[in-house]
Amino acid sequence: MIAENEVKATHMTIFGGSGDLTKRKLIPGLYNLYLEGSFPVNCKILCIGRTDMTDEGFRKLMKAGVDKYSRRGKSIKKEWDIFSRFIFYLEADFLKPAFYKKLNVDINKFEKEVGGVANKIFYLAVNPQFFSPIADFINAQGLAADKSHSRLVIEKPFGTDLKTARELNEQLLKNYDEEQLYRIDHYLGKETVQNILAFRFANALFEPIWNRNYIDHIQITVAEKIGVEERGGYYDHSGALRDMIQNHVLQLVCLIAMEPPVNFTANEIRNKKVDVLHAMKKMNAETVHKNAVRGQYGAGMVAGKKAVAYRKEPKVDKESTTETFAALKLEIENWRWNGVPIYIRSGKRMKETISVITIDFKPVPHHSFPQCAVENWQPNRMVMNLQPDMGIRLRFQAKRPGLEMKLSPVDMLFNYKEAYPSGLPEGYETLLLDLMQGDQTLFMRADQVEAAWEVVTPALNAWRENGDANFPDYEAGKNGPDAVDALIARDGYSWLMIPFDEKL
Ligand code: BG6
Repeated sequence: MIAENEVKATHMTIFGGSGDLTKRKLIPGLYNLYLEGSFPVNCKILCIGRTDMTDEGFRKLMKAGVDKYSRRGKSIKKEWDIFSRFIFYLEADFLKPAFYKKLNVDINKFEKEVGGVANKIFYLAVNPQFFSPIADFINAQGLAADKSHSRLVIEKPFGTDLKTARELNEQLLKNYDEEQLYRIDHYLGKETVQNILAFRFANALFEPIWNRNYIDHIQITVAEKIGVEERGGYYDHSGALRDMIQNHVLQLVCLIAMEPPVNFTANEIRNKKVDVLHAMKKMNAETVHKNAVRGQYGAGMVAGKKAVAYRKEPKVDKESTTETFAALKLEIENWRWNGVPIYIRSGKRMKETISVITIDFKPVPHHSFPQCAVENWQPNRMVMNLQPDMGIRLRFQAKRPGLEMKLSPVDMLFNYKEAYPSGLPEGYETLLLDLMQGDQTLFMRADQVEAAWEVVTPALNAWRENGDANFPDYEAGKNGPDAVDALIARDGYSWLMIPFDEKL
């Protein structure tokens, strides 16, 4: 989030360097930062993996990754040739102390070459079971001692429930300061997600009505057409509640519901966000059944193609009771939000790929118009489309042209692509730059992660205890099980999944 482009000399070690994340997100993100001129003049990206490969062989793989996954499309030869010289590959066993000695030598050598202290970034893109051991090895080599420049990046999942997240925090905080820990939630790097802050707190217009007096209810949908793809092994131990709701969706709720920050410092923003989680009414074994719904996809058709049932996906238990869909009704117990329900849902193999927030406003307090004028009358609604198309739409009433006074809803539109045709950085680009600049605003603090686990843990427990979920209960290509409609219909609403180009 820091505006200046200057970035300190950086030595970045990527654990899990030969994995998917490196080629899909990290290297394309770093390459795009390089193209933008937001990249250190002195940098070494050292990727650690188990496979035997030369630097050149690895660079070729990374180039293929950029060509395939970069938002800018294929790499430019002249630029790639320069950028790729920052990338190195080392075959090593990161569970052996010998490797960390080598790493120490490598970092010292780098700092000598650049003539000063460099950022030392350790990016853990590995299976979560290795987070703690790697952090300990790094510390044992003295590599965590530089509190201002040694940074540990932890990918999700951060724990599997409140207890394990707490343990992991305790373990890490023994040797690291909170200011050294960068817990990633890639949704926070997305442009449209950051724009929620700008929208709310850079405009005088919306804040006065952003409360229980004017807002009726809020819905958040993060739907995906894809299934679990090759990630069945991970996903079957995770499920939708852990994979999407605990982190990404609850973070969206925090941004929508937080109080205005006093300033834009990392801790101030994170304080205000964590307050939202603390104010959430906690579910218990009884209310889980009322306020939480889970589902699992069976076979079906998605975008005109046959999709197999979740239980038939590779590396998934044939009798799995893991949910691929989850929905919650949330209530925030504070002055601003009391009585405003927030409905959230997320699932795989749904009808559309879309992340969208809808804010429905209350009706006007009094109808001054004659009945015939207001046949089409509808309350104000705001839709924030986060992806795939990005923009904000606001529905309001206007007089229909003609001699009579008749009202109709019309839309006011902000289209990201039209407003900023030059393209937007990807979430990982923003986060990687923030990381190199030492800005933690868009990273999760220990207490935020724990507070989010607190919100979902009652549902996790109840679902685990009640293993027989009668799955599968929704066809691939449908928007979740029938029970999810009942969750919201009970309060007199229905789910909305409004694409950007659809009139409200
Ligand atoms: C990841 C989840 O965190 O987010 C995936 O593990 C999910 O299951 C992905 O597909 C969605 O991210 P995005 O940026 O494509 O919305």
